[in-house]
Amino acid sequence: MNLVGASEGSLAGKTVIDFTNPVNPATGEMLTSGSAAELVARTAAGAHVVKALHLFAGASWPYVGSPDEAPVVAICGDEPHALDRATALIRDLGGRAAVVGGLSKARQLEESAGFVMTVVASGHNPRFAVPNVDPMLLRATR
Ligand SMILES: NC(=O)c1ccc[n+]([C@@H]2O[C@H](COP(=O)([O-])OP(=O)(O)OC[C@H]3O[C@@H](n4cnc5c(N)ncnc54)[C@H](OP(=O)(O)O)[C@@H]3O)[C@@H](O)[C@H]2O)c1
Repeated sequence: MNLVGASEGSLAGKTVIDFTNPVNPATGEMLTSGSAAELVARTAAGAHVVKALHLFAGASWPYVGSPDEAPVVAICGDEPHALDRATALIRDLGGRAAVVGGLSKARQLEESAGFVMTVVASGHNPRFAVPNVDPMLLRATR
């Protein structure tokens, strides 16, 4: 961030995607208070920060399989147009963006990386560590 002059405003008005994992891979513990994305937002004066794309390895992209099975990428941020840009990027990669809230949700998204790493370290596939919930069926029962 310092190298590109972020604190002097070089990224002001630009969409900045923070995909970092401030997590100890062995323990899943967070290495920051708050979140890395909020730290980026505080550092990059005026930038429109979106937390996105931190969970899936870069080699996962582009996704070219069935659209029904496409990765769901949870993202968050405070600027609607920046979220739109990130959503379009994820769509271009073959994924599906799920906007889960403002940048204050970033810590939860970053903690989820720690959760995934911990499940992997325990010898299990994290794909099977979250419930299979179809939101359409949930709506139908309300
Ligand atoms: N790789 C993936 O598929 C992937 C996917 C999702 C998220 N992420 C996350 O993205 C982040 C980066 O991952 P990566 O795989 O790109 O790691 P990486 O290959 O180790 O690259 C890290 C880069 O950051 C530079 N760097 C490290 N400390 C620095 C500092 N203090 N100041 C300036 N530059 C510094 C390193 O420069 P030097 O080479 O000079 O040390 C290197 O170019 C991690 O948080 C990772 O969890 C990675």
